[in-house]
Amino acid sequence: MLHAAWAVALVAVAGAHGLPSDWVDPFIGTTNGGHVFPGATLPFGSVKAVADCTGNENQGGFVWDDSLITGVSPLHDDGTGGSPSLGQFQVMPQVCTGEFKTCFMRSSERAVARRKGTERAHPGYFGITLDNGLELETTVTSHVALHRFTFHDFKTKRPYTPPGVTAPPTRRQQDAEDAVPGDVDGDDTAEVTPTPQSTPGPEPSVSPTAGSTNPPSRPTKPTTTVKPTPTPPPPQPSAVIVFDLTEDLAHSYKGQGALRYGTTSELGVVRVSGWGQYVPSFGANFYRVYFCLDVPGVKSVAQYQMGGRNFSTVHATPGWGASEPIRNNESGALFEIDPAYLHKHNNTVHTRIGVSWASEKAACAFAEEEIPNGRWEMWSDFEVVKSAGRRTWDDLLGLVEVSTDRVDNDVIIDFWSSMYRSYISPTNITGDHPLWDDSDEPYYDSFYCIWDSFRVVHPLYTITARAAQAEMVRALIDVWRHRGWLPDCRMSLAPGWTQGGSNADSLLADSFVKNITKGIDWNAGLRSMITDATVTPGYWDVEGRSAITRRKELGYVPVDDDTPGGLVTRSASKTLEYAFNDFGIALVAEAFGLEDTAKEYYNASNDWKNLWNPKTTSAGFSGFIQPRYINGSFMEVDPRHCSPVLGHLDCFLNAGGGEFYEASSWEYSFFVPHDMATAVDLMGGRPKFVQRLDAFFDEGFHDIGDEPGFLPCFLYNYGARPDKTVDRVLKVLNANYFPGPAGLPGNDDSGAMGGFVVFASFGFFPVAGESVYLISAPLFPAISFFDPEQNTTARVITHGFDGTKKNKYIQRASLNGRDFTRNWFAHDEFFGVGATLELWLGPRPTKWGTRLEDLPPSMSTGGKFMGMLEGAGAQAMLSTVKLPHGSAHRAPPGSL
Ligand SMILES: *[C@@H]1O[C@H](CO)[C@@H](O)[C@H](O)[C@H]1NC(C)=O
Ligand SMILES: *[C@@H]1O[C@H](CO)[C@@H](O)[C@H](O)[C@H]1NC(C)=O
Ligand SMILES: *[C@@H]1O[C@H](CO)[C@@H](O)[C@H](O)[C@H]1NC(C)=O
Ligand SMILES: *[C@@H]1O[C@H](CO)[C@@H](O)[C@H](O)[C@H]1NC(C)=O
Ligand SMILES: *[C@@H]1O[C@H](CO)[C@@H](O)[C@H](O)[C@H]1NC(C)=O
Ligand SMILES: *[C@@H]1O[C@H](CO)[C@@H](O)[C@H](O)[C@H]1NC(C)=O
Ligand SMILES: *[C@@H]1O[C@H](CO)[C@@H](O)[C@H](O)[C@H]1NC(C)=O
Ligand SMILES: *[C@@H]1O[C@H](CO)[C@@H](O)[C@H](O)[C@H]1NC(C)=O
Repeated sequence: MLHAAWAVALVAVAGAHGLPSDWVDPFIGTTNGGHVFPGATLPFGSVKAVADCTGNENQGGFVWDDSLITGVSPLHDDGTGGSPSLGQFQVMPQVCTGEFKTCFMRSSERAVARRKGTERAHPGYFGITLDNGLELETTVTSHVALHRFTFHDFKTKRPYTPPGVTAPPTRRQQDAEDAVPGDVDGDDTAEVTPTPQSTPGPEPSVSPTAGSTNPPSRPTKPTTTVKPTPTPPPPQPSAVIVFDLTEDLAHSYKGQGALRYGTTSELGVVRVSGWGQYVPSFGANFYRVYFCLDVPGVKSVAQYQMGGRNFSTVHATPGWGASEPIRNNESGALFEIDPAYLHKHNNTVHTRIGVSWASEKAACAFAEEEIPNGRWEMWSDFEVVKSAGRRTWDDLLGLVEVSTDRVDNDVIIDFWSSMYRSYISPTNITGDHPLWDDSDEPYYDSFYCIWDSFRVVHPLYTITARAAQAEMVRALIDVWRHRGWLPDCRMSLAPGWTQGGSNADSLLADSFVKNITKGIDWNAGLRSMITDATVTPGYWDVEGRSAITRRKELGYVPVDDDTPGGLVTRSASKTLEYAFNDFGIALVAEAFGLEDTAKEYYNASNDWKNLWNPKTTSAGFSGFIQPRYINGSFMEVDPRHCSPVLGHLDCFLNAGGGEFYEASSWEYSFFVPHDMATAVDLMGGRPKFVQRLDAFFDEGFHDIGDEPGFLPCFLYNYGARPDKTVDRVLKVLNANYFPGPAGLPGNDDSGAMGGFVVFASFGFFPVAGESVYLISAPLFPAISFFDPEQNTTARVITHGFDGTKKNKYIQRASLNGRDFTRNWFAHDEFFGVGATLELWLGPRPTKWGTRLEDLPPSMSTGGKFMGMLEGAGAQAMLSTVKLPHGSAHRAPPGSL
């Protein structure tokens, strides 16, 4: 219900325009476990600004629920599991009832409910109105957030008097003067110019200067009035901006940080800058990050610590003040905005905050470079930044064009929203980090995590964001150069926890076979992959691989691996992943002409078979991947364990997490992307394999809420049933994804969850790490992919398209006008060359794509994986690699 109403509301807006950003709903996945960041950011932008909530699921800052809002902050991650990430440097407007001490400083105390239905966002912008009527909006450039706070209906009894104009005094001023002669605010007096001949109005003109030797004429008081006893003036409400240094979303501040105050060259602007130290949300150690906040129209400033128990007035002087350590938590600054400023600016205050991972100075420099002085305080300035951001998004999103004729709005919204989220992370902080100063290589943060993103997000970049992908590959190789291994996960400059295999190897292989070359030293790339495979790190929880020695000796990662250096779990899923990672190494080695190395790794990529236990049965099927001990015995694990029907939440990254990571043996037993032909054989041949896939989905063992669940939906192509792929993909998509805050089945993981929607909509899915796309059926009648580097456009064109209602099965296909019968294609035969793939759709399954020669490649059947590499110096794989037959099948001693 909610879902339908939601879609209608959004479409009313979207229908009017044709730009991709008009269709993006940033709120998809902001509840129900999606953990999506719905705020303002640019593609791969360092700054991601949004209102932070107190809700449980605030990993991405904002949550679509009824929880309270504590401020707007400039740093977030998108769609992550783990503890909430970043969220420090919150700024929150507040109307205090009197002087600063009446303000609420602690995040729990200043938190305010939202006004439901006022949440609004589009690429580059986020806004919301609070229950107290205050409005928060934010827009961004790469390293800077510009917040706009509107104090609707804010009034003090003190009117605004433009400088140089004489205004009649108010009753209050008059009373105040009566009560305490000469006690007039400095700013009031400064604003009032003496005017000797000022016309007396209903009330007399004001004193030129308080305490002047020329006392003003005073109104004659009625003689009957008794001289009033002086009463203190009633407290004036004050418009205050609270800045919180210490409260990141995970409450990880431990007394390391500093603040300093100054004024800038801009009139009335107070600058507070500084840094804080916090704990990464899914990684080791701690990190520091720097900010530079400019607040205009400031009347007075105070610093608070311990939630206000320690309180001091700040005298901001020109330039940079002294840096003062902040050892207490619940600390920050308060800015009272001059009512005069508010009146002049529609009750609106803009604040500008630059963020840097390198220094305070850089944070301030970003602020002034990206949103220059003199161009950020006005309403129209905000609009300029906002429009520029939106244009940047449309430029990137617009590299893909879809024809939406006969397509439901829900499909269009889900598609563009998913595309959009694919580009939120990793974040480009090239040149803005303190990690290694001997390097000019690009640096990207928030690879969070590659275990999730190598499957869909990075393959998408090899199509639509090739320059960025090249920089990311360089950044990863540079991490290897400096730390010794490739990471599986990094965030907040820190090493993150490795989830399974060393999937950066497969990420690199994927880019390599898709001709991502710009600026990359692929020689170093290959060496980094081989390091992962051969050198055991001291702490393999954050990089490289575990169990290298045992795996080499036994042909699998044993349950009871005895190499110290990290958490000994996930032995079965790691074995499968390492095997596939090795396959990627072999592909790259072969392209370099390193035949022996290629052979070695092709061979190693077979060792998953050592975990195949033909005796294990489940739901009428036999033969499953099972964990195994050093002594060769299998450990018996119910193949359904970790699936939605059994122990679904038992298989995370903790000591009791078991031998399969975040998916069941049912699901992992299908994970042999490089040699599905062998997996099909082990499962009893193609018909039985297809039956098994059906059972897998129909019995509820499949989990689309986690990334290993993507590829299985397309595996029917290996079983010669591409029609069933179409059915399955549509079924999974329709049952689990929809445009609405609850519209994602799991953590978005930096856009990965949405990546399934993206490729399902394209009508082909990448077997990440190979140059292979499995064809399903597109959800749009025509799609084009523009490659700005090559100046080519690849196109998918359908015939008979009816929104996959009846005509969803491929009847025949052509590539560049020539009959095309394979149910897969290679990257370079489509994208690199700007090809046209035509698909004729009809209501009934056909024989298209079902012959043996039409099936996707597998290592054991001599398949083609490398696309462009084949002709370019690398020989066709099978002709060069003779896999030592039988060796991989040979059971280790003591088995079975
Ligand atoms: C209170 O704040 C002042 C100024 O920031 C600081 O010098 C002092 O150490 C603080 N006191 C405590 C108990 O933290
Ligand atoms: C602040 O520090 C005190 C003392 O260490 C602690 O009890 C309190 O929970 C902390 N508050 C927050 C919000 O972390
Ligand atoms: C006041 O707000 C309106 C929009 O509500 C805007 O168009 C106008 O430019 C604003 N004026 C100033 C001085 O910011
Ligand atoms: C990444 O950031 C650097 C430094 O700002 C910039 O030169 C580069 O173009 C950015 N990369 C992309 C893909 O935008
Ligand atoms: C192939 O791998 C197996 C382990 O899976 C190993 O025992 C064998 O020595 C390897 N063969 C070659 C030629 O590297
Ligand atoms: C192999 O080791 C496991 C774990 O130590 C043990 O449970 C099992 O009984 C052993 N199998 C054999 C055949 O010794
Ligand atoms: C790109 O290709 C189009 C047509 O395919 C052509 O008109 C245009 O000149 C090309 N641009 C460049 C920069 O080569
Ligand atoms: C690979 O990329 C390079 C550089 O962008 C380009 O010149 C070359 O044509 C590409 N090769 C293929 C097969 O697409």
